[in-house]
Amino acid sequence: MLNFEYKNPTKIIFGKGQIAKLAQEVPADARVLMIYGGGSIKNNGVYDQVKNALASHKIYELGGVPANPEYDVLKRALDFIVEKDIDFLLAVGGGSVIDGTKFLSAAAGYDGDPWDILKKRVRTEEGEGMPFGTVLTLPATGSEMNSGYVISRKETGEKLSSGGPGLFPRFSILDPEVVRSIPPRQIANGIADAYMHVLEQYLTYPTGADLQDRFAESILLSLQQTAPKVMADETDFDYDAAANFMWCATMALNGLIAKGVPTDWATHSMGHELTALFGIDHARTLAIVAPSHYRYNFETKKAKLAQYAERVWSIHDGSIDEKAETAISKMEEFFRSLGIQTKLSEYTEDFAGTGEKVEAAFSSRGWDGLGEHRKLTPAEARIIIEMSY
Ligand code: NZQ
Ligand code: ZN
Repeated sequence: MLNFEYKNPTKIIFGKGQIAKLAQEVPADARVLMIYGGGSIKNNGVYDQVKNALASHKIYELGGVPANPEYDVLKRALDFIVEKDIDFLLAVGGGSVIDGTKFLSAAAGYDGDPWDILKKRVRTEEGEGMPFGTVLTLPATGSEMNSGYVISRKETGEKLSSGGPGLFPRFSILDPEVVRSIPPRQIANGIADAYMHVLEQYLTYPTGADLQDRFAESILLSLQQTAPKVMADETDFDYDAAANFMWCATMALNGLIAKGVPTDWATHSMGHELTALFGIDHARTLAIVAPSHYRYNFETKKAKLAQYAERVWSIHDGSIDEKAETAISKMEEFFRSLGIQTKLSEYTEDFAGTGEKVEAAFSSRGWDGLGEHRKLTPAEARIIIEMSY
């Protein structure tokens, strides 16, 4: 097992009716900016629950944060924060709203061009950043209990990440009832994103971290078992399935399963380029890239792929190579069972030249060593993307 340090200060308040506890978590004298997305919270009652809970607080609102939170929209919000002397942020939404809020938290106290925080990956250290909490409405990213975020910028065609220990939410409220109103496409995305978060931290090479491996495998198994229940018709809402889905997504990316093991994240880096180029949903970009990434890096990953085959898919027959190959096919089948296509050409006809564009973007940023071995070059990323057409 590799050495590690672990600290996660986010308080989780989980369960039915817990949004009512907001008033106890947001400081009474705070000047709060409530941040949300395109309006789903107004249709499903979450907006009213938040407003009722914070009826005695001084609260301003900022809606309209789009999926893949857009830099220009957030930059305008920064002016509003200064104008109204805001000192506490409350994200009410999915990963996009929470990520946008993290960026605002980082940028509010940053002396310089806010885009540099992303371009130069400026970390927000402990004690920096405006305090914020979240009310999660979409299980997927784990952003509610981690300190990373991803921001898109249409003007430059970029999608970049940043973060730092100053950007853990103070608290996050996770009420599984919110899952009721999530459209099937977003539920599928949430399952696939959480699943891929686990694989990014698991499908590397063995380090004898047995407990972390078992944590990772149990999240994968739980997601597989829960998927058909949460994908079922809204009229069949299954609270426990929603609760398990929600907790799996949080546990998949709150740092715990990454400790003591190497992590990959090359699939995410390549996937972000596909969102920047084509606007494809984040989770779907991962389903496009991952099979090719695992096939291209088969030799270095096959020990863990075979373990994944045995322990998650109960495949016990065959050689290591055979089991590892079957595991990749099983993963693809799982994504397809969620209605998620796994080839770039299934999303766009304009896929020619994408590999070259990804290679150029990675080269221009000096990203010459991705993956758990920090060896994957931009030229190899191009091959992987071309294998994904
Ligand atoms: O905008 P509204 O109207 O709220 O609608 C949203 C949005 O259209 C809707 N939605 C959310 N909760 C709902 C709901 N609709 C009905 N009922 C509800 N309860 O779902 C749509 C998608 O929301 P979004 O927040 O964009 O989805 P997600 O949570 O998947 O977040 C994706 C973003 O997070 C980033 C992605 O790159 C992407 O930009 N990620 C953040 C990570 C992190 N911070 O750790 C890690 C991830 O790997 C990922 O990169
Ligand atoms: Zn993700």
